[in-house]
Amino acid sequence: MKQVTYEGLTFEPYISKNEIAARVEEIGKDIVRDCAGKMPLFVCVLNGAFPFASDLFRATETIEAEITFIRLKSYEGTSTSGSVKEVLGLHEDIEGRTVIVVEDIVDTGNTIYRLIEDLKKHKPAEIKVATLLFKPDALVRPVKPDYVGFSIPTKFIIGYGLDLNGKARNLNDIYILKED
Ligand code: HPA
Ligand code: MG
Repeated sequence: MKQVTYEGLTFEPYISKNEIAARVEEIGKDIVRDCAGKMPLFVCVLNGAFPFASDLFRATETIEAEITFIRLKSYEGTSTSGSVKEVLGLHEDIEGRTVIVVEDIVDTGNTIYRLIEDLKKHKPAEIKVATLLFKPDALVRPVKPDYVGFSIPTKFIIGYGLDLNGKARNLNDIYILKED
């Protein structure tokens, strides 16, 4: 692994694909332990979570589970709280089900907070959050992910689904912005 450059910014290696793979296997085992017999529905939040969701879902092959994909559309709300997100693509009936929201990153927590509030309206039995990355120091909402791959400092990272303006999602490792 060596440094990569996108849009004039330099990033250095931070979490290797082997470390990611090992951690995803562990989280998969945790979910198998917690959700056996519940037929959980994984809800992958596109675009960033797709590599993580793909690997995590397959790490639960010993239990019955389903997966679906949603996208969050930003639009300007009338409130002063800034942009609001609308959930697109949830066609499954989640009433009474165990839902596992799969995110690439929980940063401020605004996105996942909104999403959980929206999902609750459909009366699931429980909502769990699995996030590959978590920036605890950036959190401005009362959210506590159930499954966390890695807790990281409040710095910009890319790779394994995480992007810089749409780029770098196909990097197999995770990189962190170099500050000098
Ligand atoms: N990288 C990419 N996308 C993000 C990040 C980040 O650090 N935080 C929130 N979205
Ligand atoms: Mg992004």
